[in-house]
Amino acid sequence: MAKAASTVVLYPGSFDPVTMGHIDVVERCLKIFGRVVVAVLKNPQKEPLFSLRERIAMIRAARRWPQNFSVEAFDGLLVDFAKRKRSNILVRGLREISDFEYEFQMALMNRRLAPRIETVFMMPKTDYTHVSSRLVKEIAFLGGSVKGLVPAVVARALRKKYTNQ
Ligand code: PNS
Repeated sequence: MAKAASTVVLYPGSFDPVTMGHIDVVERCLKIFGRVVVAVLKNPQKEPLFSLRERIAMIRAARRWPQNFSVEAFDGLLVDFAKRKRSNILVRGLREISDFEYEFQMALMNRRLAPRIETVFMMPKTDYTHVSSRLVKEIAFLGGSVKGLVPAVVARALRKKYTNQ
């Protein structure tokens, strides 16, 4: 436990936008690890709905975060960023078995690239196992309610993007 308390973990992703599932994973990490850095990918291959700045601002505004939490942008290889941050633990959320194949492949590839870096999986609360950034955007685009699926700041931003309200 003492070791975990002094450990810096990276929680990487596109966060386009951050959902309650992501927030739940961060909160679980904060209970276990000494420092949590959310690492937001600068240039996802898919064109993001929200700019890097917007994605970062929404994560920061989602909660009153403790001092051992931070959000940073990264590009290039995740393992290179982890080395720069002196972190040897990557955290990924696992919602359902369908996530597993992609996550398993990515974890093993990252291990091949950087054998000292481990990937740790966290399961979010079951209320959020069906929540994804992609579905949240689709619901908001089609005029549905995303209340409870995303932080209030994200719900407002989605409304603004899609309806200009
Ligand atoms: O939220 P996402 O889109 O599922 O996150 C994917 C992410 C950002 C973790 C992944 O695409 C990534 O690590 N990209 C950085 C480039 C990299 O290191 N690629 C090799 C992964 S094995």
